[in-house]
Amino acid sequence: MKLNGSLTTFAAISLAFVSSAQNRIGSGAVDELYQASCASCHGKQLEGASGQPLIDGIWKHGDSDEAIAKSIRDGFPELGMAPWKDALNEEQIRSLVIYIHEQNQLADKEALLKRLEPSDGVFKTELHSFKLEKVTDGDGVLWSLDFLPNGDLITTQRDGKLWIVKNGELTGPINGTPEVWQHGQGGLLEVALHPDFQENQWIYLSYTENTGGKDAGKPAGMTAIARGRIKDGNWIDQEEIFHVPSKFHTNAGVHFGSRFVFKDGYLFFSIGDRGRQDMAQDITRPNGKIHRIHDDGRVPSDNPFAQEKDAYKSIWSYGHRNPQGLDLHPATGEIWETEHGPRGGDETNWIRPGLNYGWPVITYGMNYNGKPLTQHTAMEGMEQPLRYWVPSIAVCGIDFYEGNRFPNWKHNLFASGMASQELHRLTIEGDQVMADEIVMKNQGRVRDVASGPDGYLYVLLTSGTPGKGSIYRLVPAN
Ligand code: HEC
Repeated sequence: MKLNGSLTTFAAISLAFVSSAQNRIGSGAVDELYQASCASCHGKQLEGASGQPLIDGIWKHGDSDEAIAKSIRDGFPELGMAPWKDALNEEQIRSLVIYIHEQNQLADKEALLKRLEPSDGVFKTELHSFKLEKVTDGDGVLWSLDFLPNGDLITTQRDGKLWIVKNGELTGPINGTPEVWQHGQGGLLEVALHPDFQENQWIYLSYTENTGGKDAGKPAGMTAIARGRIKDGNWIDQEEIFHVPSKFHTNAGVHFGSRFVFKDGYLFFSIGDRGRQDMAQDITRPNGKIHRIHDDGRVPSDNPFAQEKDAYKSIWSYGHRNPQGLDLHPATGEIWETEHGPRGGDETNWIRPGLNYGWPVITYGMNYNGKPLTQHTAMEGMEQPLRYWVPSIAVCGIDFYEGNRFPNWKHNLFASGMASQELHRLTIEGDQVMADEIVMKNQGRVRDVASGPDGYLYVLLTSGTPGKGSIYRLVPAN
């Protein structure tokens, strides 16, 4: 069976719900609409009254998005439910469908929490049991990590600090790293070693910069990339790799993207829509895109829009909201991406050149206030996600597991969830997501995940306000 996003049939295996953001769920316009129009028969919590429960997993008239929409639209006049198609518009019907999915996930919360509760520190999952072992604490929000050949770790902290972790101790911060624009979700973001690091010692960083640009009179910024080397605790030999002219910067504090993958001498990276969703469809702008450049920053002349007048030449694909996860499939070399969606509508995509991934024209999500963004989930000329989450898990970094400590997880795709505090394990066949298991829950916001050269699976967890980040690793329990 292909899992293409309809979660209701999959609820027993994958229950994604938003915990720290629970106030968002069941709130807003859609909740009012449900309470006013439907609760009298289906119950305030969808538990059922004169009409049947809508959270018991039993769907007499079908559980696909289309079937549920049809039930609402046409009703069952002979059975006591009037049609709603004259009273509600298609957008309202669409938001009710998403709402019903959300409530189904929430209803199973108790069972899920019970299953995922570690006992004696051991997390039991379908294929492996593991313990969570702390490597080190940061002193702020840790964003990304990579592994140095000598066994040390390198990790970024959003407030601008770059640390080396030696034998479980934080050392640094490294002096002289790029100045970052600390604004909302921005700061020092991704770190990655060049694939030929042993020979060239290049380390790449992405961060948010403000170079004096203004947007509506307010300071504005954008994601930028630099590379440099580290010597005796100093950042040296810095080269600018990617930088956007300030006329394109926006003042929003959100959606910086920032992740990297290296492939065949190229650097692929993401920039989120920077809080201007319509710009994701505009190929003259860099935001809401995946880009491809040479590893030294030059723009390849065979990029999909390189010959198009006024296009932003480094664009590889477009129509993205906030891509915060990128990795290469270890067997096929394809680029996989995860994208932080709106309320419902986090996505996993397979990134191919020149394609449009749809944001904000199509999406499985709605606005955080419960108002629909669009009633379209699919459209000609726009790519469908391979997997989407309703409700959102607040997906961030991803990693195809390549270690040998958890043999049955080999090449599974791990996806981190922030607000949901979840770590997901997706089973992939070809370009299809076959299953999705939550392997860890409520241990902190999971911002990044990475296979270590030692075979363990590393995670960056953040907890508390203000957020404090720590590095942990999953080690087999036996
Ligand atoms: C006056 C009572 C009443 C109201 C109001 C009402 N329903 Fe229903 N609804 C029913 C009944 C009764 C059925 C069951 C029909 C049957 O037995 O097959 C039903 C069936 C459904 C189904 C199909 C369930 C399945 O098992 O396939 C959905 C979905 C649904 N309602 C959603 C809604 C939504 C959303 C609203 C508000 C916009 C709503 N209903 C308002 C009485 C109501």
